Amino acid sequence: MEKLGSMMEYRLKTFTGWMGRSGNGSLEELLNDACDTLVLWPWVTVLWYGGLGLVLSYGLYLFYYQVLVWKRDLTDIGYNHILDAARIGKSDRTRVDTINRARRLRKIGDRLPPPYPNGWFSVLESENLTRGEAKSVDCLGQNLVVFRTEAGEVNVLDAYCPHLGANLGVGGIVRGDCIECPFHHWSFSGQDGQCTNIPYSKSGTVPKVARLRKWRSLEVNGFIFVWHHVDPEVEPWTINVVQEIEDGRWVYYGKNEFLVNCHIQDVPENGADVAHLSAVHGPNMISGSDIRYSRPAWADFGMHSWFASWKAPEEGEPMHIAKMDLVHSFRIFNKFEMGKIDVRAYQIGPGYVQLMMNTSMGPFVVLQTVTPIEPLVQKVIHRFYAPRSMWNAIFQKFAILAESIMFERDMMVWNHKQFIDNPLLIKEDRLIKSYRKWYSQFYSENSMSFTMAKEKLDW
Ligand code: FES
Ligand SMILES: [Fe+2]
Repeated sequence: MEKLGSMMEYRLKTFTGWMGRSGNGSLEELLNDACDTLVLWPWVTVLWYGGLGLVLSYGLYLFYYQVLVWKRDLTDIGYNHILDAARIGKSDRTRVDTINRARRLRKIGDRLPPPYPNGWFSVLESENLTRGEAKSVDCLGQNLVVFRTEAGEVNVLDAYCPHLGANLGVGGIVRGDCIECPFHHWSFSGQDGQCTNIPYSKSGTVPKVARLRKWRSLEVNGFIFVWHHVDPEVEPWTINVVQEIEDGRWVYYGKNEFLVNCHIQDVPENGADVAHLSAVHGPNMISGSDIRYSRPAWADFGMHSWFASWKAPEEGEPMHIAKMDLVHSFRIFNKFEMGKIDVRAYQIGPGYVQLMMNTSMGPFVVLQTVTPIEPLVQKVIHRFYAPRSMWNAIFQKFAILAESIMFERDMMVWNHKQFIDNPLLIKEDRLIKSYRKWYSQFYSENSMSFTMAKEKLDW
């Protein structure tokens, strides 16, 4: 009996000790303490589960609204074979130099088309330019200042101040619908680029020639586009608006963004190059984006299958829009089919693609922009939009991840390929020929040549 009593005392001590109570007294006190504790149990349980519920709900809320951003720089993708051979690690000081040496040694090909075609090009994403903000953007062989007035309107002007050459995108301040230069505070109107005020001019007059070039711009579906055309008389075409995005029925789920080392024409050529689909994008995404390793035997259990066709516009259709139809499915052991996606893609001009996706679980859209940053450096962005749902909160993240891996496989080819002006095509490659013919409409006689564009970059 005595032994039983001491055992109970020990257990109660342990129990009350665990509950954070003192428990130093006699057996009777300990029993009383334990009874008090047991009375508190329901409240402890409620608090515990309540807290856990709150944390989980908050996590779910974050997951539901969280956008996924996948961003890779110019030297991130496609150079590991060089780094591996030289035993250069990710944080090695010589990493970027080694990659740049490889870029310089690359034979880029002969007779490259002009690097900056005519058309609408994305210069910024809307969310990256708040009211009253000015940014400098370098692309298409131009240095631009892009700013948003307090009223929300976007203006794009040449960046260099005609006074003494300061860059208005670096420290320029938005005042009303004007931008003020950081160097001597001259102001330029966003409407037409005209200088409107020189604060220290005693006469108060402003030379008429103090004017910046104003670029036509357009803000639609989350992008700010600029009209780039060497022929100033050519009227811009209108960009098709995805109404579901514009009116908020479909929401933004995230994006990927890459800098690719190739000619702009190579990127959209992918759509007409139907033979590369099973070669590069057949092996399943688990095998990764490094094309040296993306075809292991074990990955054969599941392959992506693609059926694609590319069509130039027909008579009566807008000449700047080409169409592509694509059916994707995932085949397990080449028998069971799942993940079917029907894609209708509209290639709108040289640097913009709208991919309208249809799945059994609903539609979604991917918007792709390609903007030349340098003659052989393209900024490519894919933004994903779909109706708000828990399914899409999961599926869209997966889709962004899958598309990023697939795109990086293309990048590994693009970053090292030559541009071949007169490629050796077989009958089955005929769409590439049609594509090149269609794309050539975006070059004019006066387009800046590739060599000239390269020379302009050298100081
Ligand atoms: S350089 Fe712009 S105001 Fe002087
Ligand atoms: Fe591809």
